[in-house]
Amino acid sequence: MQRINTIEEYQKEYKHSVENPEAFWAEQAEQFTWQKKWDTVLEWNFDEPNIKWFVGGQLNITENCLDRHLKERGEQTAILWEPNDPNEPARKISYKELHTDVCRFANVLKNNGAKKGDRICIYMPMVPELAIAVLACARIGAIHSVVFGGFSFKSLSDRIHDATCNIVVTADGGFRGAKDIPLKSVVDEALETSPSVKKVIVLKRTNTNVTMKSGRDAWWHDEIALLGGRGEDCPAEIMDAEDPLFILYTSGSTGKPKGVVHTTAGYMVYVDYTFRNVFQYNNGEVFWCTADVGWITGHSYLVYGPLLAGATTVMFEGIPTYPDAGRFWSVIDKHKVNIFYTAPTAIRSLEAMGLDFVKPYKLDSLRVLGTVGEPINVEAWNWYHENIGKKNCPIVDTYWQTETGGIVISPLAGITKTKPGFATLPLPGIQPALMDESGKELIGNNVDGRLCFKFPWPGIIRTTYGNHKRCKETYFDIYKGYYFTGDGCRRDEDGYYRITGRVDDVIKVSGHLLGTAEIENAINQHPDIVESAVVGFPHDIKGWGIYTFVICDHERKDTDNLKKEIIDTVTKYMGPIAKPDKIQIVKGLPKTRSGKIMRRILRKIAENDLENLGDTSTLLDPSVVEEIKIGAIK
Ligand code: WT7
Repeated sequence: MQRINTIEEYQKEYKHSVENPEAFWAEQAEQFTWQKKWDTVLEWNFDEPNIKWFVGGQLNITENCLDRHLKERGEQTAILWEPNDPNEPARKISYKELHTDVCRFANVLKNNGAKKGDRICIYMPMVPELAIAVLACARIGAIHSVVFGGFSFKSLSDRIHDATCNIVVTADGGFRGAKDIPLKSVVDEALETSPSVKKVIVLKRTNTNVTMKSGRDAWWHDEIALLGGRGEDCPAEIMDAEDPLFILYTSGSTGKPKGVVHTTAGYMVYVDYTFRNVFQYNNGEVFWCTADVGWITGHSYLVYGPLLAGATTVMFEGIPTYPDAGRFWSVIDKHKVNIFYTAPTAIRSLEAMGLDFVKPYKLDSLRVLGTVGEPINVEAWNWYHENIGKKNCPIVDTYWQTETGGIVISPLAGITKTKPGFATLPLPGIQPALMDESGKELIGNNVDGRLCFKFPWPGIIRTTYGNHKRCKETYFDIYKGYYFTGDGCRRDEDGYYRITGRVDDVIKVSGHLLGTAEIENAINQHPDIVESAVVGFPHDIKGWGIYTFVICDHERKDTDNLKKEIIDTVTKYMGPIAKPDKIQIVKGLPKTRSGKIMRRILRKIAENDLENLGDTSTLLDPSVVEEIKIGAIK
């Protein structure tokens, strides 16, 4: 397995990947176990779009994550699990054990009627069984749709419904810091409006009381016991290269989340390649990605990437501040973590807690640090570099998206010269383009534009589940012949890329992508609210905070109660990650004559930039702006 070792090698490999992408990716794909090699490396057009990699190839990704490693590293730890409670023992699951566990649970799924192509929803806490369930789906060719355990019943039921899942895998509850999250009862509520689901398999984790619906619900351990000794063998289903591997929902500008579809072979080749090269992974190293498996980062760099590369991957059930704000650092020392990959928002919040939480720990096992999910500010970058990396660890600021499947712009650890705040250079196979507002590609350096890609890579989104038109319209129609990311970006005098943030109606709150329309839909569930508008505002820790303007259908004098009710409503329907930080009650919203809310104006108000609201003359009723300005929350 070769890897890039110097900047010259990167340049050479990059050039090769652009001049001859098919030969380049075929070379990367050679090392895997294929049931049948591909006939054609790539077929594509960005107009429909129609993107197919390794056409005609047949394989199963779990053979590549598990079976392929058994001979060489069967006894090596595959998953190193650290529980929420530091007094509970950690679990080490070897490649051999993981293989057995995955086969057993795959047989459980089959016994519950699962077949190739079925959609299975996984709504679980961060325990090894979550990774086992994901891999068990892939083993039998069922399409997994993992929903983050922090989402509430409405978000869950929308996602189950959109993918017409027939099975849900969940747990009685999950531990997060001092809290127990009642996952099963959220599932029960979601299933009241999800008739497609026939079976629910429930892991026992918190011993929370749950109601089990007879005929529908079964305990994970009972189902395993039913297999007797016979469950250990489960031949991997043979999949076509372009068979869907998973659906993962991501927020968009409309209220309905998009089910991003990734397929088998291209995703596999891409996450393996990027994992090994970006982090410069060496055999035997311990890799820790702190993301939840409910997000793409957890899919690609907690489960699939590390397992494909035969790494030891750390999975952490808890939160960075429990039992105190030194938890990350204590886990790094405890498990001698070599590569640590987290979000800027976590770094900023731990920085704010002070160095006393860092000082007790040696952190001398660390070799590489990474960040993902949002731009990292220079101050947080320096803090991370000095206090966690002890100025010895390169930082990889990795830019990518749910839709890109894996990292697309990033330094290679220790190889690419870094610049705080810059994701630096495109990985081999990635051809960025910056576009101006008129749709012209900006050539040369020192330019600001909208970030697109002009050639496919194996990990790129294939479709949005059940609605190909939406995929085309969102990503491929805006700039003809290009994939559009939705991000603003600068290319500086050195050709380095710096992501400047979203240019559409989604906001990054603590690294989570949230659609403003989805939050508005949740707020509007409150019986007194007739209309709402959500925008982001810069927030020191979270990156962006949520500012909401709401219109009530009658005057509520008890505004504090009303605000609390709104927050509870959002938590109930969508989840605590979408809780508004600021709520302003208004009489009207700035609308154009055609009834469209002018968010540009609301954003300025939320950012407290009241003097530069721009042209308001096209508004239906410009006087509402004055009223909103007076009540603006600082
Ligand atoms: C959006 C995608 C990438 C996996 C986790 C998030 C922002 C991501 C960076 C970075 C600046 C970043 C972009 C992107 N983003 N990484 N290193 N620097 N911005 O996946 O939830 O699909 O979010 O996250 O705005 O479009 P996601």
